[in-house]
Amino acid sequence: MAKQSLIIDCDPGVDDAIALLLALASPDEFDLLGITTVAGNVPLALTQYNARRITHLAQRPEVPVYGGCPRPLLRSPVTAEHVHGQTGLDGAVIPDPTHPLQPQHAVAFFIDQCRATQAPITLATLGPLTNLAVALIQAPDIAQAIDRVVAMGGALGRGNVTPSAEFNIYADPHAARVVVEAGLNLTLIPLDVTHQVITTPERLAALEELGSPVGPAAAGWLRHYGQREGEGYGLAGAPLHDPCVIAYLMQPNLFSGRPMYLAIETDSPLCLGRTVADPHPADPTLANATILETADAPGFYALLTERLAHLPSVSSGERASSGS
Ligand code: BDR
Ligand code: CA
Repeated sequence: MAKQSLIIDCDPGVDDAIALLLALASPDEFDLLGITTVAGNVPLALTQYNARRITHLAQRPEVPVYGGCPRPLLRSPVTAEHVHGQTGLDGAVIPDPTHPLQPQHAVAFFIDQCRATQAPITLATLGPLTNLAVALIQAPDIAQAIDRVVAMGGALGRGNVTPSAEFNIYADPHAARVVVEAGLNLTLIPLDVTHQVITTPERLAALEELGSPVGPAAAGWLRHYGQREGEGYGLAGAPLHDPCVIAYLMQPNLFSGRPMYLAIETDSPLCLGRTVADPHPADPTLANATILETADAPGFYALLTERLAHLPSVSSGERASSGS
């Protein structure tokens, strides 16, 4: 398979961090053009800092990190420190980054990349869709240059912020609506799929025993995060939402899904951020997204563990921060 030119837009966040590590550990599959960050799980100052901590931990400081939008388009900000901790990465101690944030804004970087590249760009979105929505509003022509967008977000069943809505969509429903209505080649990975990919004691032990600082850090974050994101929702373990996006790009056969009509609710207080999906629209041409429905959890964890095992890593003995 040819290398995919990839930009990851994210709000790390524990599961974002695992997703970044999976992508950083897979240089044969991805030409990682950059990591853009957005306000989401924690404020922007922390998401961009955490993204740099992850590239440093993985010894990939050449991957540039950009800061993007500090708040949603219209609604007031929503964060998730109760899940990811005050730092966004509570549960393990990792070193501070030694490389700086890029001076360019994430939206400007994204537009420039789309206009300059000869290779089709894949965009993986792991957080609220504010950056992509602003880019599409500012430069609608970039829709032609985006080969595909694979987004973690939404729920066909129960949400995880309200009964109706999942965090990434609820945190900026208006941005999600801009993206869904932009005519992109969009694949959505909702909670219904990510809740099939949960940690078990055996899977966490396999990560912990990898023999590099990455494994114990991942296991530490996931144990902390699982207390709320797993047990808090009646799951047996912690769901690895965002890594599903990267795993899907690497091994799409681990997942199944189908074309559906997708719309975002932006008006109802009760259902704000609901992803309304119809696999059988009256007019089949109305299908505007592929929505995934199943995941092969053993295959997913085998891929994740194998890749993280090969990731060289700086040691946590360096000047370290975070993690309670
Ligand atoms: C999504 O919300 C965030 O808390 C996670 O990082 C993930 O992107 C799951 O609803
Ligand atoms: Ca996220």
